[in-house]
Amino acid sequence: MTNQINKNIVVGISGGIAAYKSAELVRGLIKAGTNVRVCMTAAAMQFITPLTFQALSGNPVHSDLLDTDAEAGMGHIELARWADMILIAPASADFMARLSIGMANDLLSTLCLASTAPIHLAPAMNRVMWDNPATQHNLHILLQRGIKTHGPASGEQACGEIGAGRMLEPSELVHQSLTALACMDKPQFLQGKHVLLTAGPTREAIDPVRYITNRSSGKMGYSIAIAARDLGATVTIISGPVSLAPPQGVEVIKVESAEEMHTATLRAAKNADIFIATAAVSDFATKEIFTKKIKKSGEHLHLQLKQNADILADVSHQSDDLFTVGFAAETHNLMEYARSKLDRKKLDLIVANPVGEGKGFDQDTNQLEIIWHDGHLSLPEKDKQLLAYELMDIIVERYNSHFG
Ligand SMILES: Cc1cc2nc3c(=O)[nH]c(=O)nc-3n(C[C@H](O)[C@H](O)[C@H](O)COP(=O)(O)O)c2cc1C
Repeated sequence: MTNQINKNIVVGISGGIAAYKSAELVRGLIKAGTNVRVCMTAAAMQFITPLTFQALSGNPVHSDLLDTDAEAGMGHIELARWADMILIAPASADFMARLSIGMANDLLSTLCLASTAPIHLAPAMNRVMWDNPATQHNLHILLQRGIKTHGPASGEQACGEIGAGRMLEPSELVHQSLTALACMDKPQFLQGKHVLLTAGPTREAIDPVRYITNRSSGKMGYSIAIAARDLGATVTIISGPVSLAPPQGVEVIKVESAEEMHTATLRAAKNADIFIATAAVSDFATKEIFTKKIKKSGEHLHLQLKQNADILADVSHQSDDLFTVGFAAETHNLMEYARSKLDRKKLDLIVANPVGEGKGFDQDTNQLEIIWHDGHLSLPEKDKQLLAYELMDIIVERYNSHFG
């Protein structure tokens, strides 16, 4: 991926066992096109060397508040001003405590106190430390002050215990940081508008334990929902089964089959201004759902399939004043199929993306061809969240030229 987001992030690393994961975090942020400078606490340097971060970030690592040489270069105040965002990962219990009472006894805590940039924390610690009322009290104070937290996740910990306290995976932290950076200073173009999306796959039951589905992860749809929310819209996702957390401030209506998605979507579309159909809806469902698990008998099993109703076409025909956006995921003849779908289903805009051979489905990146009746734009491969913001900007522009 090329440089896409010219923002400055100070990655603060405090002394926790998860510090090794921050090497991947710094790498991911740089790969996504951000400028990174690393600031480590003295404890962090006991877990991982500054040399690793110097090599990864291409910049000297900052650690010493009272170093005259460092102050003559990029001192703590310049670093505080340089930052568009301060991301502390891992954030130790000790660091959270110091931050909550406004300590400035090392470079990282002084930096936080001296900067007006938003502060994001990825806490990581033993589950008992995390649950301790002292840590929870500090967390509460930090949240009230507008500091954002990412995680911690639950699961097996380095100490062998199981519970909440693991640092979020670096790829997830990269994704959440990019989202936060991209929505800084976004004008609220969709204030008062309702954006409805479908997302994820559908499941067509065969018997009580089996179903037909596809490889859609819902990531693109959920990313677009976040982008629409950040433009001020009220957002509803009609979601097939996915393993994604519901985005904050977005209504998620969960469905399984194409038929359930059809009913829920047509109902919700009556109150929507923009409809974006990103779901990979199964074209076919089984004619009959067996009530008992099918047992093996003979070499072949013949299933009869029937065509499902077309959600996108039905929604677009139901309402003339709904701006309708379709998605076309194709393995070949991408543009040709997309243009024909645009006309056939009476859409206002269609977003085509190549799938298969490791592209599209269940990936963190995507590439898009955006087509409308008298125009076309290509968005090259990049993080799905960044693409979602660019796509929403185009949808707003087309929506305004249609109804404006
Ligand atoms: C082996 C080891 C692992 C530790 N892991 C963590 C941890 O994961 N999270 C945490 O909050 N503290 C952890 N600590 C304790 C911190 O390192 C300690 O509180 C330190 O003072 C934090 O300093 P800092 O906040 O300035 O980085 C660990 C300590 C040791 C010895």
